[in-house]
Amino acid sequence: MRYDELKTGFSVKDNPIIMGIETSCDETAVAIIKNGREILADEIISSATEHVRFGGVVPEIASRMHTTAILKATQNALDKAGLCLDDIDAFAVTQGSGLLGALLVGVSFAKSLAYATGKPLVPVSHIRGHIAAAYLADKDLKPPFVTILASGGHTAVIAVKDYYDFEVYGSTIDDAVGEAFDKVARVLWLQYPGGPNVEKLAKQGQNSIKLPKMLKNYQGSEFDFSYSGLKTAVINYVHNEQAKGNEINNADVAASFQSSAIDVLIEKALKVIDVTGYKTLTVSGGVAANGYLRENLTKAVENKGIKLVLPEKRYCTDNGAMIGAEGYLQYKKGNFADLSLNAKAVISLR
Ligand code: KG4
Ligand code: ZN
Repeated sequence: MRYDELKTGFSVKDNPIIMGIETSCDETAVAIIKNGREILADEIISSATEHVRFGGVVPEIASRMHTTAILKATQNALDKAGLCLDDIDAFAVTQGSGLLGALLVGVSFAKSLAYATGKPLVPVSHIRGHIAAAYLADKDLKPPFVTILASGGHTAVIAVKDYYDFEVYGSTIDDAVGEAFDKVARVLWLQYPGGPNVEKLAKQGQNSIKLPKMLKNYQGSEFDFSYSGLKTAVINYVHNEQAKGNEINNADVAASFQSSAIDVLIEKALKVIDVTGYKTLTVSGGVAANGYLRENLTKAVENKGIKLVLPEKRYCTDNGAMIGAEGYLQYKKGNFADLSLNAKAVISLR
């Protein structure tokens, strides 16, 4: 087969078995998904511990770790599903957004598998993958619904009108919410990954520190977010108190930041539910693993006739299953790539 021939000549099968490969950041993840909804295997090998002493992901290290972990993750997934490579109907892989070097490991690997087996290669957007995790959590979930997308790189409230049709109602105009969690973690001397550690510390504190309201006097969309001011306010608070020689209650700082960062996500998502008239709300992205968000969202939708779909925490942070779930949708559409497929550092939702 010539390298540019792979794209053509496939018929789309019913109940396909799709391998989802994800290497956009520090998780090497491979999953096997049947018919877009059933997880047959789901392997994640994280290199997070390798990045702890640097306080954040070092792209070069992440890429190297993917190279050594990817075969193991793939073999483990096949073994757990009791399948061999020939049983896989298509190879779906995160094409972007993410760290370029890290993405290239997954993309090159998926290309090799597709080439060797003669099966379709399906490029997947990481963000759409996050959104598709909800289909694994609720087998009956169908669009339309609203999703809160909250990750290390994105923050948005999105109307999922159809499997392939999205409308972004509001998004961050600067930092992503996960990024703000990670930066606040640093100023509180918490280890990478910051988000879960801020959440843990916040449990011991009170929301007692007054932080500025987001986007006061802002002229743009009422659904937009801004996390840069909040992050700076927390950093300034800590530095000012230190300069005055005051003792800081880090748990209170964590709790105050967390409620400012999360409450606004809930508030704006409910507004979009109102505007669209949709009856289902889902969450997606790493910050969706946050317990405070999950509890408060559950309370917020109570008695409102809104169905809330909360994917398991494991499927909120980066994983291969979500890539398999979105890969299934792209497969059904016949969205196949040839072997010239390249990784992209940024892919928009559309
Ligand atoms: O979706 P994700 O795994 O990777 C990206 O696509 O960005 O999200 C990672 C982000 C990080 O910023 C991390 O600190 C944050 O999600 N995160 C959390 C929690 N778990 C992960 N933030 C708050 N609370 C958590 N429990
Ligand atoms: Zn992600």
